[in-house]
Amino acid sequence: MKKAETIAALLQEARKSLFNADIELSALDARLLLQAASGLTHEQLISEPDMVVAVDKISKFKTFIDRRMNHEPVTRILGEREFYGRPFQVSPAVLDPRADTETIIELTLQLMNVEPKRILDLGTGSGAIVVTLLAERPKWSGVAVDISAEALEIAKANAQALGIADQLEFHNAVWFNDIAEKFDLIVSNPPYIPHLEVFELSLEVQNYDPHIALSGGDDGLEAYRAIAVGAVNYLKPGGFVVLEIGAGQSADVRQIFFAQGFQLTGQKSDLGGHIRALAFQFANL
Ligand SMILES: C[S@@+](CC[C@H](N)C(=O)[O-])C[C@H]1O[C@@H](n2cnc3c(N)ncnc32)[C@H](O)[C@@H]1O
Repeated sequence: MKKAETIAALLQEARKSLFNADIELSALDARLLLQAASGLTHEQLISEPDMVVAVDKISKFKTFIDRRMNHEPVTRILGEREFYGRPFQVSPAVLDPRADTETIIELTLQLMNVEPKRILDLGTGSGAIVVTLLAERPKWSGVAVDISAEALEIAKANAQALGIADQLEFHNAVWFNDIAEKFDLIVSNPPYIPHLEVFELSLEVQNYDPHIALSGGDDGLEAYRAIAVGAVNYLKPGGFVVLEIGAGQSADVRQIFFAQGFQLTGQKSDLGGHIRALAFQFANL
């Protein structure tokens, strides 16, 4: 038996390679990738270090490690990410949904009662936000918009897999284009990174998240301006706009919405203490 075929040896070698490639969580990533490549559980990896792993699984694991050494995120290698407790498929066409975005879900569920609601999700990507809200509130329904047709295909697959496809329509468009109804809730996690800062992000983000999902124009606020202007015409009386914002953007985004006649009716910080989600309603209700 060659030593390099055992769980312990594979993990040790992979950890070293990842560490040398400046991957921060080298031990965790090596373990997650070995679990995925081998089909073995976390417990098996710990309790059976001398177990020999099959050749085809080793080869798959080594391909995964090479990809991670190139700074491809583990979630992208696995093609799946957990969001609000549910598995979401991801592809190169969609933003890898972030834990921070769960703040929008929590704020929305706090603000809105459980009556049937009609939701518009602008820039749906993987569908993480709207699919989660519809799964949490089976009587709600909605429309998922994205400028990327490839992203909408992933959102559709997630809606199907998570059993809410009947509650959701899909619309390939620029923000509100060709939308012909009003909503109880407009929700969005739009691109909000100032354009030049995209090139300063980690390689994991810069090289693997689609830039159309990241860049919010010169100052990062372009999408908020478009959404604030459009929301005036697409919100039912008493309706909410709930948005994710970048760290430090709260004052600017509030001003953009105040200028269109909205008032702030809720906000929530992420686990890092940054105001991450803002909720607005019309001021003249
Ligand atoms: C930051 S990602 C958010 C994805 C997903 N909602 C999430 O929270 O994980 C922004 C999304 O907006 C889409 N997008 C960018 N510009 C757009 C536009 N002008 N109209 C519609 N969608 C747009 C991108 O394709 C991307 O899917």
